Amino acid sequence: MGSPRRDGNSAALGEAARRGADAAGTLATLLFLDDYIQGFLPDLRRAGAPADRYAELFLEHFLPADGALICTPIYWYGMSAQTKAFFDRSFTHYAGSGPEPERVMARMTGKRLGLAVASEETYPGAALGIVHQVQEYARYTHSDFVGYVHGAGNRRGEVARDPRRPLEAAEQLGREFFTRTYSDYRIETPRSRTVWESEASALASTPGVLP
Ligand SMILES: Cc1cc2nc3c(=O)[nH]c(=O)nc-3n(C[C@H](O)[C@H](O)[C@H](O)COP(=O)(O)O)c2cc1C
Repeated sequence: MGSPRRDGNSAALGEAARRGADAAGTLATLLFLDDYIQGFLPDLRRAGAPADRYAELFLEHFLPADGALICTPIYWYGMSAQTKAFFDRSFTHYAGSGPEPERVMARMTGKRLGLAVASEETYPGAALGIVHQVQEYARYTHSDFVGYVHGAGNRRGEVARDPRRPLEAAEQLGREFFTRTYSDYRIETPRSRTVWESEASALASTPGVLP
C-alpha cells in the first residue's frame, strides 16, 4: 500500500483484493510502505541505505511471495513517492550492495503482479503512466502482470461510491490472482484461434464426448 492514508482509497482497493484472496484460500498480507520506507535510494558510494525497515519488507515479504498487488494513489499522474521508492530501493539488494544478489535477482522473477490505483479523476489516461511502469517492471523481471483496477475518489473511502464498482473488481482480482488466464503472445506462440472455449467446444475437444 503506497498511500500514507491507511483508511484511504487505495487501501480500500487493497483490502477488497485481500478479501478476494482470502476467499480463494490465498495467503495475502496487507503491508503499508510507510511502515518500512523512510527514504530514497542514496548514492551507495557515499552513504548506506536509510535506517529503516526496507530490507525486512523486500527480503522477508516481497521476495518470498509468489505475487504482489501494488496499490497506489495517483500523484501527479504517476505512482506515489513511497511506491516509486519501493522499486528504486530494490537496487540496493540486486546490484551487489547486499548479500546474495544472484539469489535476490532469481526471486524477483516469475511473480504474478497486479496494480490497483485510486485517483480523483475518472479519466482512464490518468493511470496509464503507472500501468506502463508496472508493465515494464513485469517485462524486465519476467513476471506476469495479471490485472489492474482503477477507482475514483478523493475523500477517504469514497472509492466505494464509484459506480464502476472498483472494489468489486479488486476483490475479483484478489480472488483470481493466481488462477486468472494470462497471455502475452509472441508471433511464434502456438495458440488456438479461440480465446474462451464455449462449453460446447470444450465438450467437443474432450475425447469421447459429443457436442
Ligand atoms: C500530491 C497529490 C497529487 C495528486 N495528483 C492527482 C492526479 O494527478 N490525478 C488525480 O486524478 N488525482 C490526484 N490526486 C488525488 C488522489 O489521487 C486521490 O485523492 C486518491 O483517492 C488518494 O488515494 P488514497 O486515499 O489512497 O490516499 C492527488 C493527490 C495528492 C495528495
